[in-house]
Order: sequence, then structure tokens, then C-alpha cells
Amino acid sequence: MPDLREKVLEILKTVKDPELNRDLVSLGMIREVEVSEEGRVKVVVALTTKACPLKGQISEQVRQAVASIPGVSGVEVELSEMSPEERARIFGGPPKKEHLGIRDVRFVLAVASGKGGVGKSTVTVNLAVALAQQGFKSGILDADLYGPNIPLLLGFEEEERPAVIGGKIHPLVRHGVKVMSFAFLAPPGQPFIWRGPLVGKALQELAEVVEWGPLDFLLVDLPPGTGDAPLSVCHTYHPQGVILVTIPQELSVSDVRRCARMFEELKVPIFGLVENMSYLRVEGREVPVFGEGGGEHLARELGVPLLARVPLEPEVNRRREPVALDEELEAGRVFRELAEKLVQRVFGHED
Ligand SMILES: Nc1ncnc2c1ncn2[C@@H]1O[C@H](COP(=O)(O)OP(=O)(O)OP(=O)(O)O)[C@@H](O)[C@H]1O
Ligand SMILES: [Mg+2]
Repeated sequence: MPDLREKVLEILKTVKDPELNRDLVSLGMIREVEVSEEGRVKVVVALTTKACPLKGQISEQVRQAVASIPGVSGVEVELSEMSPEERARIFGGPPKKEHLGIRDVRFVLAVASGKGGVGKSTVTVNLAVALAQQGFKSGILDADLYGPNIPLLLGFEEEERPAVIGGKIHPLVRHGVKVMSFAFLAPPGQPFIWRGPLVGKALQELAEVVEWGPLDFLLVDLPPGTGDAPLSVCHTYHPQGVILVTIPQELSVSDVRRCARMFEELKVPIFGLVENMSYLRVEGREVPVFGEGGGEHLARELGVPLLARVPLEPEVNRRREPVALDEELEAGRVFRELAEKLVQRVFGHED
């Protein structure tokens, strides 16, 4: 029934991939349409990845669209996966040199702040671990060249080093998260001293030699501020989004504002703000230790969502394990919800 086949293709042009926001036909995702004498239709949809969290939604939309065509008596949707070449057609040609090391990464998210010590690294590890717990392949690049402390927060021993196989560095894994840090490159106990021009070069070289393998999320823990180092990281890793971390204090907030402007100029979408150390929970009440309302105020001003308010949690410092793994702690729950929101924003449509 050639007519019906045409109609199916026509209607599939109205079904959009929610993540890419383009129709399935023009994306080349419709691999096969079979129509039987009795009007039964089978559609084979090639997903960009089998791990696509929206596959249920896509398949249902295809089914409903096709079923609405008069003369269709039944619909079967089969999901398959695109070849790397097919994927490259959608996401652009072969990866450029500076992207070689992160070619299989679906989403690069930077975690930044205007000021040091507000909890970027804490947010990064907890978010990455929560994403891994939720079934996403996640990795952390500790791009803080001056104070790389992600390995410490994840409980790595000081002498642990990633394997180098065939000239490629294979990130270490902890709690299901792949981890690469500048701390792994320095002799134990001796920090690197970076001079300006070397920063960009080091980042570039690292991007080329680290074998991340397929990842849904690569979280990049940026050095604080708006200096050369965060800029170099952005130029090398081209993050598709950034989360800004702040504490409620007015002073910290003005630094984040400057940082936000930098990302706007770099055309990196700001997914939202995470206010850390928002309150200390004492006998059920929220005690504002570092001021109040800064995050909410700034989020409104920047026109971005306040994604989370993370409480001050003494266990954050006591443990060598992310609190996101703890079912009981309020901070753990907040980080898990933050991960869910992030997934929504990246792979779904919240607004
Ligand atoms: N919600 C929290 N409750 C209690 N302590 C916290 C919390 N968040 C962070 N901390 C502690 O505050 C300190 C700074 O946190 P962290 O290292 O994550 O900040 P940072 O922004 O990455 O710092 P830097 O700019 O130095 O990289 C650490 O000792 C950390 O354990
Ligand atoms: Mg840090």
C-alpha cells in the first residue's frame, strides 16, 4: 500500500525528537516503514543511542501518530540504534581535534562559581554519583588545575593513578563514576605549578588522551572565578550547559553574577543556580547561617531556575563518600532531586 506508506512518512514529519527538537524523518531516525495488506504498520526507529531516556516517549508518540491515520489497523514500533556515521550526520561531522577525547560524551556540563570554596566540587561529585545511581553513565573531569580535590572527595588514595593503555589514559572509577583529575598527573603530595600559557595546552592535551568511553554526562569541575583557566576549559570542552554554585551571602552572589556574564558571552546556557550551605536544619527549623535569599534573588535576576538549596551538612566533611549515596540525609535527597532536574532539562522539556 504505497499510499499508506507515504501517509505514515508524512505524519512522522510531525513527530519531534524531544531532545533535538527536530522531526524524526529529517533526522533520519525512521529506518523502515512496512505496511501490510490489512493496514498494519511497522515502524523501525533508530535512536541516537539505545540508552536514550526518552525512548518510551518517542515510541509512544510514533505509535499514536501512525494510529491516527485512517486505514491503519495496527501499529508496531521497533527501536534500534544509529551507527556512529548516522549519529555524526546529526551531531555534526567527524569530531574536531579538540573534541577527540570526548567524542562519545552526550552532554558536557560545567560546574562553576564566581568564588572559591562555595561547594563546586561537592556539588559535582554528588551530582555525578546521583546520576550514576539513576542509571546514567557519568564522569567527572576535575579541571581545577590549581586545587584538584575531586579524588579526595571521592575517597581515592593519594597514590592511586589511572591506567595508561596504548597511550590513552583510562579514568578511574568510583561509585560508578569515571574520574579524571589533574591530581592524578602530579607526583603524590606535590601540586603542579601552572604558568598561564601552559594551562590551555595542558587542558587540550588532556582532552586528547583521556579515553572516557560512552558517557551520558561529563561534569567538569571548573576552577573558581572568571580568569583564564575557566575560559580555557570552556574553549577546550565546549560545555553545553553550566550550573552555577553560590552561597546565600550577598558578597558571593555578586561574584556569581560576573561569572554568569562570562558564560553568557561564551554562549554557554546557564541551566540554573545551586545555592549551597543554604541553611542548617536544627530541630526541624532552617537556620540561615550564611545569610538568606541570595540564591533566589540572583536566580530571578538572571532569569534562570534555582535548581536546589543544599543544606549545611556536617557529614559532608566527615565522610570520604558523597552524601548523595545516603538515603537518610536531607542533603542526599536534595542532590538526588538535583540530578533528576538536570536529566529533565537536558533530555526532557520542563518549561
Ligand atoms: N553543604 C555543605 N555542608 C557542609 N560542608 C560543605 C557543604 N558543601 C561544601 N562543604 C565543605 O566546604 C568546603 C568547600 O567545598 P568545595 O571544596 O566543594 O568547594 P569548591 O567551590 O569546590 O572550592 P574551590 O574553589 O577551592 O575548588 C569543603 O570542606 C566541603 O567539604
Ligand atoms: Mg573545588
